[in-house]
Amino acid sequence: MSAPTLVAHGIRCLGVLGAGQMGMGIAMVSAVRAKVPVLIYDRSPEQVKKGLSLMDKLLDKDVNKGRLTTEQAKEAKERVEVVGAEAALKGLRDVDMVVEAVSENLQLKQAIFASLAAELRPDAILATNTSSISITKIAASAIPEGLKASSEEGKKAASRVVGLHFFNPVPVMKLVELISALQTSQETLDRARSFAIACGKEVTVSKDVPGFVSNALLMPFLNEAIMHLEKVGFNLIYHISYQVMELMTNKGIATRDDIDTTLKLGMNHPMGPLQLADFIGLDTCLAIQNTLYQGTGDSKYRPAVLLERMVDAGWLGKKSGKGFYDYN
Ligand code: 3HC
Repeated sequence: MSAPTLVAHGIRCLGVLGAGQMGMGIAMVSAVRAKVPVLIYDRSPEQVKKGLSLMDKLLDKDVNKGRLTTEQAKEAKERVEVVGAEAALKGLRDVDMVVEAVSENLQLKQAIFASLAAELRPDAILATNTSSISITKIAASAIPEGLKASSEEGKKAASRVVGLHFFNPVPVMKLVELISALQTSQETLDRARSFAIACGKEVTVSKDVPGFVSNALLMPFLNEAIMHLEKVGFNLIYHISYQVMELMTNKGIATRDDIDTTLKLGMNHPMGPLQLADFIGLDTCLAIQNTLYQGTGDSKYRPAVLLERMVDAGWLGKKSGKGFYDYN
């Protein structure tokens, strides 16, 4: 198969929705590598403040390490602007592409895409950084009410939605997974691919199946590692009742450190699966695992009970200070 021709992405201004670790990372590589102005919106001003200060720190480090000049870092910082709460999604009205990076919740994403479709120009690309949710479902929500999905206008409205899946930490990981909804046009795919390349990323393509290629392979591995830990005398869950422990699968094969060290030293993984799950966020891992479970109906994807309990407890990994490891 011949390599796809690289078309001009034509993105003169990017919108990013969600200032969490993924959204800020996407904003940063877009400003630094693709050199486009970025408008970022998050309904939590504190989250934006936190995200901007992390980006500043990362850019300063790039300067100290000689990867960027002071001038380049300053230009990149100046390219990133925050949209205020009053303007909200209306503040993204003039962007050429938006990348949505809010939490893994279908209803939330559907509501957002319905609003984006109403606010943005009809030629703007609506990309989602979802880790596992159906791009086809999200694209259907970009069709204005009253239009039939099978009508020419309905098909056109959904054709600008695409999956653009970045990896954490975005400034470091070299991959972007490109996912076409059933409705996505070739032009949308080509422009989204070109933009990811302009951000310095290599692009792989996956069909719109639960978890795509990346998370359909990664999440069962992380979930299995958590099942291997269940029932071991694990100090973080010592106060979970005996009954709850009984509900857990009867594995308990190794300790946290033995599981992670096995994969790090035995397979040369940069971090063990339990540390990686903490790093991704246990709520995100659970949401993806549930999408795989419900989307396929296959019991092999059942989320580990311990993963569910940790999310119930609010122990979401690195971002909350506690997960399989303690970060305080
Ligand atoms: N943001 C930005 N940069 C970061 C970072 C972060 N959160 N964490 C680490 N880095 C940088 C470090 O600052 C360092 O940069 P430097 O060269 O300027 O010093 C560089 O990454 C390497 O870091 P370290 O030397 O401190 O540590 P490591 O060698 O352990 O590397 C790592 C850190 C690159 C994160 C490595 O551990 C790794 O590759 N881990 C696996 C990450 C992974 O698998 N990500 C994919 C998750 S799945 C996903 O995102 C999909 C989603 O849908 C769930």
